[in-house]
Amino acid sequence: MKTMKNIDSFTHVRGESLFVDDLMIRKDALIGLCFDSPKAHGKIKSVDYSVAESLEGVERIFTYKDVLGENQIGGIIPDEPLWAQNEVHFWGQPIAFIVAKTEAIAKKARALIKIEIEELPVITTAIEAKQKGSFINAPRIFNLGNTQKSFEECEYVFEGETFSNGQEHLYLETQGCYVEPLENGNIKITSSTQGPTQVQKTAAKVLGVPMHKIEVDVIRLGGGFGGKEDQATPWAVMAAVAVQHLKKPVKYMLNRHDDLRMTGKRHPYSSFFKIGLSKDLKIKAFEAEFLQNAGAAADLSPAVAERTLFHATNSYFVPNVNVSVYSCKTNLPPNTAFRGFGGPQGMFVIESAIAMAAEKIGVDRRKIQEVNLLKENDEFSYGQIANEVQAERSWFTAKDKFEFEQLEKEVQRFNNENQLFKKGISLMPIAFGISFTNTPMNHARALVHIYQDGSVGVSTGAVEMGQSVNTKMLQVAQDVLGISAAKVKLETTNTTRVANTSPSAASSTADLNGKAVEMACNLLLDRLKIVASKMLSSDEKNINFKDNCVFIDGKKSDVTWNAVIAQAMLERVSLSENAHYATPEIHFDKSKEKGHPFAYHVYGTAITTVTVDCLRGIYEVDSVKIVHDFGKTMNLGIDIGQVEGALAQGIGWMTMEEIAYGKDGRLLSNALSTYKVPDIFSAPKTIETIPLETEGNELAIQKSKAVGEPPLMYGIGTYFAIQQAVKAYNKNYKPKYHSPFTPEKVLMALYEK
Ligand code: MTE
Ligand code: HPA
Ligand code: MOS
Repeated sequence: MKTMKNIDSFTHVRGESLFVDDLMIRKDALIGLCFDSPKAHGKIKSVDYSVAESLEGVERIFTYKDVLGENQIGGIIPDEPLWAQNEVHFWGQPIAFIVAKTEAIAKKARALIKIEIEELPVITTAIEAKQKGSFINAPRIFNLGNTQKSFEECEYVFEGETFSNGQEHLYLETQGCYVEPLENGNIKITSSTQGPTQVQKTAAKVLGVPMHKIEVDVIRLGGGFGGKEDQATPWAVMAAVAVQHLKKPVKYMLNRHDDLRMTGKRHPYSSFFKIGLSKDLKIKAFEAEFLQNAGAAADLSPAVAERTLFHATNSYFVPNVNVSVYSCKTNLPPNTAFRGFGGPQGMFVIESAIAMAAEKIGVDRRKIQEVNLLKENDEFSYGQIANEVQAERSWFTAKDKFEFEQLEKEVQRFNNENQLFKKGISLMPIAFGISFTNTPMNHARALVHIYQDGSVGVSTGAVEMGQSVNTKMLQVAQDVLGISAAKVKLETTNTTRVANTSPSAASSTADLNGKAVEMACNLLLDRLKIVASKMLSSDEKNINFKDNCVFIDGKKSDVTWNAVIAQAMLERVSLSENAHYATPEIHFDKSKEKGHPFAYHVYGTAITTVTVDCLRGIYEVDSVKIVHDFGKTMNLGIDIGQVEGALAQGIGWMTMEEIAYGKDGRLLSNALSTYKVPDIFSAPKTIETIPLETEGNELAIQKSKAVGEPPLMYGIGTYFAIQQAVKAYNKNYKPKYHSPFTPEKVLMALYEK
């Protein structure tokens, strides 16, 4: 199996890698700072900027009045102003943008702005929003078969409810941008965004200029995790408005507090389910109503909601399904993309339903899981027929390779021997669809230049955010062209080199952009083969490039890559190529809610063992043992890193990360002292990942399957392992399906009567 170090690791460890904040800025550059709403809902009666404006060093304060285009940044639905005008809808909503000589002056000015707000009722939960009929858009429903009829024939039918809380992205690098004026009113934005085109398009709209006047450049991100798919945009656009007026550069990096307060997070979900099983534990029917807490504007919520429906049955086959989702409008910051994009929220519900059924019937949860795993040609509720299914293979391989029965006996033995510590064990299968669920977004381009000295520059629409997509792009170019890694450079992601890109998201970045790189390199290769064949008087069909040399019939010639490039220059052969890739085969009809939206699915199974300290309610994850479907991985080191990172994030979401808003809509968990994320001590003691041996899929780059998001959902297994340990201690415990399962909640559960 192939592997290669992340090409950024050398500069990362030396602190030499560049992020937005490291850019050399012009000496006339100014600093921006957002003034945001101190209330979650209300009418703006008055704002007095006069004292703030007159502060020495304040250049100007921008508001909706300074927008020359449209004061609108909503992507899917135009329901979000850049700056509030008459009303505010969430605590932290941008109202104005202070531009000053220094950050300290801007902060001082911010404190001097006086605002009067007439408060209106605040909604913070999805349930309340639903009761009041407060929605972002119409609900969506996926249906397969006939659940009502099926329930009548079921041996067992259970109903329940679940709650999963939000999650803070906590990218190490906060949101930010640096915006410079160029000549003729052109503007260059350097942004920490997953979606450079989204920033460009929105800036053009708000500034009232054509897109070609805005250039967006992305060096790399210190993490995005979905939080910069849509929500890197407002800051860049605010600074761009300021630059449009001032004709001076403006930089804006959010500090952690401001970032936590003003940005949206993973969507909390309140869900209601009904599950029906036959005597032999087959799930015959499943219904769920998902109430998504969307926050105060649409942002990406409708797309996230859609993915919840796509993953509502996880890796199980259910012949009768009826699932609906409501994007509920509340007075929280607009919630947004977060690794898994609504999938984890959907999967938590069916896993809870299975847990409840198991509990009530008195069987192991895993018995129900096991007999319902997807098989080849099973139909998903949205009409796609499952193929190359690895649900059972990953499940049984995990049980076999990790000696599950032995592990289970260990847990039993431990629990028999220990009073105050109890262990729990769980299995968690996953099936995650790869492609943007919105079919038109599945495309990418690459621009490849071979320079006359034989070195190569590769530009794509892919944004490097730590997932190592640039390393994968380099590998593709290197493999196709048969040259060494040192000859290939990955350029920054720039809208003038690669235009109209989809955001780097949906775990699809490497597939989409990698395929485009592959195509561009192959086109170049075809031309170079002709040049080389003439140089060697051989048929071009016999020519190959490898190890920086030309090979004839598999034998190394003495003609080098560099010599061929030099000759191509003399022959005036183009050494540049631009290729476009659009995923074939996929389609989806929203009017019927049926189609084939995913290029393929990623499968896997995790076995999680935990130990609960029954005096204190704290717990440790002893181990997570995973069999994962990487296809034919193109970089095992990177892919295992993605599995481990996603797993840690999934465990954090399910256990300790607890977002809290007050009834007044204020974020209470607004610092790292009140919002706990997994650290090295709370990470699993061991994580073992075994690649499932599979053929891979043709639509995956080099048959190496997408890996960014799927493993996050292994974290759900931790929730149920803890639940099992609690049950081993307290026979009276009545399981609830409310995550995160914080130590406080575990303690309460341990002593529930
Ligand atoms: N890994 C790191 N280190 N940093 C990130 O921000 N984002 C995740 C995942 N892995 C992320 C990451 C998310 S949300 C997605 S969608 C994918 O990477 C995006 O990259 P890919 O499409 O190249 O997998
Ligand atoms: N996944 C992630 N991001 C997205 C998607 C998706 O399916 N659709 C739009 N943005
Ligand atoms: Mo990932 S949530 O699709 O950026």
